[in-house]
Amino acid sequence: MKHPKTVWITGASSGLGLHTAQALRNAGWTVIAGARSFSEPIEKDGIHCLPLDVTSPESVQSFCDRALEISPWVGALVQCAGMLVLGSCEETTDEEYLRVLNTNFLGMVRMNREVLPIMRAQKSGRIVMYSSINGLMGIPFQNAYTASKHAIEGYAEGLQMEVRPFGIQVTLVEPGDHRSGSEKYRPHAARMSPDSPYAAAYESTTAKIHHDETNGSDPDVLGRKIAKMLERKRMPFRRRIASPDQHLAVYLHKFLPARWNEAILRSYYIREGRK
Ligand SMILES: NC(=O)c1ccc[n+]([C@@H]2O[C@H](COP(=O)([O-])OP(=O)(O)OC[C@H]3O[C@@H](n4cnc5c(N)ncnc54)[C@H](OP(=O)(O)O)[C@@H]3O)[C@@H](O)[C@H]2O)c1
Repeated sequence: MKHPKTVWITGASSGLGLHTAQALRNAGWTVIAGARSFSEPIEKDGIHCLPLDVTSPESVQSFCDRALEISPWVGALVQCAGMLVLGSCEETTDEEYLRVLNTNFLGMVRMNREVLPIMRAQKSGRIVMYSSINGLMGIPFQNAYTASKHAIEGYAEGLQMEVRPFGIQVTLVEPGDHRSGSEKYRPHAARMSPDSPYAAAYESTTAKIHHDETNGSDPDVLGRKIAKMLERKRMPFRRRIASPDQHLAVYLHKFLPARWNEAILRSYYIREGRK
């Protein structure tokens, strides 16, 4: 029996999540999209939009219940919801670390916990989690985000081993910089100030991060690649979608001595010297 192509997608109100939702819709999927800014259930441009806050177990539960009313079959769950807080390790507070980890990591864990029993009963399903190049290597002043993406990478490896026997496939998408992200999801840690001992390095690094993202790859192309990947019988466990220099950075990070990597990345991001 041919099952309906239904996909749930988190963080689909902007950025890569929105572009991926549109590409999936164009590829013929029934798309059920979740985000906090969808304040009530509506259908917009052929996409079912439902309220979803991945940090709230109640909201996650209610999203799943409503999505199952639209279609009882869940072909795929694509998890894009994410945010970051920019700041030095020293000046980022517990509350800021927890906010990032609760959205980027535990948000995915919560969604997976709800969808896994459904996919096990179906004996089929696909879980796609948006990690990042930062899930593979750290850069300065993006530490809470980097920690959350490293957590996803390790978690996904264990998850795939557990659920493969139930016909469930897991994929980590590792995007490099894409010109899609919104500044509102990249706040500065409250304690960062011009008097910070890290101020000069912080300023040059955040300017570089902003430059790389605004001049990054085309998010429509990424969306289409994900739609194509979901059509494959077997999805890869890792799907890196990045520019050649970002692929090279990951390769060097893996094979060069740590001190060399540090020197390369420091000279790339930190141009103003120490304060
Ligand atoms: N852009 C890039 O260059 C890049 C690179 C590597 C990885 N990524 C990853 O790709 C994903 C999308 O990032 P982006 O930069 O394209 O998007 P973005 O513009 O920063 O948008 C973030 C999305 O996440 C949603 N979101 C945030 N908190 C949420 C919550 N608590 N519950 C539900 N949804 C929430 C937002 O919607 P609401 O505010 O409406 O809830 C929004 O739709 C993220 O996981 C990010 O880490 C992006």
